[in-house]
Amino acid sequence: MKKLIIYICFASIVGHSFAQDSKSIKLNAPDTTRGLPVMKALASRASASKWDTTSLKLQDLSDLLWATDGINRASNGKRTAPSAMNAQDIDVYVFLKSGAYLYDATKNTLNFIAAGDNRSMCAGKQGFASMPPVFCVLISDISKFKISSDSIKLILAAEDAGIVSENISLFCAGVGFSTRPRATMDDKKLSDLLKLKATQHPMLNNPVCYKKD
Ligand SMILES: Cc1cc2nc3c(=O)[nH]c(=O)nc-3n(C[C@H](O)[C@H](O)[C@H](O)COP(=O)(O)O)c2cc1C
Repeated sequence: MKKLIIYICFASIVGHSFAQDSKSIKLNAPDTTRGLPVMKALASRASASKWDTTSLKLQDLSDLLWATDGINRASNGKRTAPSAMNAQDIDVYVFLKSGAYLYDATKNTLNFIAAGDNRSMCAGKQGFASMPPVFCVLISDISKFKISSDSIKLILAAEDAGIVSENISLFCAGVGFSTRPRATMDDKKLSDLLKLKATQHPMLNNPVCYKKD
């Protein structure tokens, strides 16, 4: 009986905060009913400068990622964020205390990429007095643009990243979380850790946390 109670307690803790080990994380279906009406979300959008350190619950992380760049039209695989020429060039890498993951919108999963807490690479030289639990790092693979000019590819990549980042900002404003779009990050360390190809460019990152008073 004692063993059963210990097991139930353990299972409910893990169930709440999801398994933060070296495994991929299956996300929940998004709750598309939550959040403020869009005009109220716009009225409260602001870049945060105070950071709570509490880990996000699985549903919150799931909703964040779907809002960021999830599939909202299953019939054609299109996303919550538009992209130039529908190139879908932005990959969302998610940094948690437990490791780095790549958001797979089709499978609604965070695919495990690298173990360990590497959020300081996302923070970069700016640093954080307290570390937010999640960084979404937006990386464009410019090889997905089927045009010849590299300079135009980079412009489109920046535009697409800005839109994905704004999805994060609006989601956070709508549900009462904090975020900030940031160009600052340690590009070199991130590229090495994530084994990025020459065509993959870190564009922006958004730390995300529950609101700190
Ligand atoms: C493309 C872009 C890059 C940014 N990079 C950084 C950054 O590296 N570090 C930072 O603290 N804020 C960064 N910001 C946030 C801006 O400083 C912030 O949006 C601006 O001060 C306006 O404040 P608001 O977002 O609350 O309206 C960036 C914003 C944008 C749009």
